[in-house]
Amino acid sequence: MTETTTRDANAVIERVENDGTYVPTDEIEIDSMAALAEIETETEIETEPTHEGESTLVDLRLEVQVPIQSVDAVVVSPVVLAPPAELATLDARAISAWFGERKVLDRVSLTMESGMITALIGPSGCGKSTFLRILNRMHEMVPSASLAGEVLLDGVDIYDANRRLTDARRHIGMVFQKPNPFPAMSIYDNVVAGLRLTGTKAGRDAKDQLVEASLIKAGLWKEVRDRLRQPGGGLSGGQQQRLCIARSLAVRPRVLLMDEPCSALDPTSTRVIEETMLELAKEVTIVIVTHNMQQAQRVSDNCAFFLAAQGTPGGIVEQGPTEQIFGAPSDSRTADYVGGRFG
Ligand SMILES: Nc1ncnc2c1ncn2[C@@H]1O[C@H](COP(=O)(O)OP(=O)(O)O)[C@@H](O)[C@H]1O
Ligand SMILES: [Mg+2]
Repeated sequence: MTETTTRDANAVIERVENDGTYVPTDEIEIDSMAALAEIETETEIETEPTHEGESTLVDLRLEVQVPIQSVDAVVVSPVVLAPPAELATLDARAISAWFGERKVLDRVSLTMESGMITALIGPSGCGKSTFLRILNRMHEMVPSASLAGEVLLDGVDIYDANRRLTDARRHIGMVFQKPNPFPAMSIYDNVVAGLRLTGTKAGRDAKDQLVEASLIKAGLWKEVRDRLRQPGGGLSGGQQQRLCIARSLAVRPRVLLMDEPCSALDPTSTRVIEETMLELAKEVTIVIVTHNMQQAQRVSDNCAFFLAAQGTPGGIVEQGPTEQIFGAPSDSRTADYVGGRFG
């Protein structure tokens, strides 16, 4: 049997299977549009619980079908809209990463301070995306990938053997370079999908409030409030990216990771996303990878410059307050990079 439980001050509702696993995961964010399309098809169907008890951490199709019976009885109301969790610091300690035998990061340590925006900059291939994926346990989804080191979320190691993968994903959300909303799913359901995929079930009113609150925070509400039932795929690229931000925010993460979130967008959409980030930083710690030096200066409080010398793993050359990294870098390689002389 599946049971439902209320956990911690956030009071989100989760399902716990017999073996103690939380379901479902949000593997959804992982990668390919093909996988997304498949999940989209399935999540659109509100099915009867035909596979009760069969849910696993890897099969999202079963997971989205399972919950109905026991969770329907539980109507979560404003709890989903409780005040944000306290701001959290993310502390990466001596992170090394490999793909097979090949080491791509070497003992990278970085503190991403609570309520601040940390920018990761550096040329392509120096391990920024790999580092970001390690911060919410997505690196381990890649076959052959391995890592060493610790990632502490407010002092608790997200890789601790007693911690659940899904906890890390819930608390540490991710937004990708290419906006990846479910194109055929409505704007409303796209936001709510964030809840479904982490196993949170809410009543109708709570969902309405959550959708509005998430879209407001993502800076999209005014543009879509009159067409919430229209497909997410009908929005412009910049709007789709903000929809993805809203989807991430719906589960109220403590950290938001953004991997070049504006590189596919026009300058106007980029500025809107940047304004959104500056607002969001009041309640969620943000880590952004960007190749746009102006963007790093406009949005970030702190900055880390990654570099991988030919044939060697990537590492951080220099880190510190953004003003210092750009205004008075202490390493000549940093000066060259931020000055546009390479990369
Ligand atoms: N899935 C993968 N399998 C094998 N090697 C990979 C994979 N992803 C990234 N790499 C390699 O790891 C290194 C770091 O890549 P990445 O983290 O994407 O860098 P960045 O985001 O800074 O451009 C690169 O040499 C890249 O080729
Ligand atoms: Mg990258």
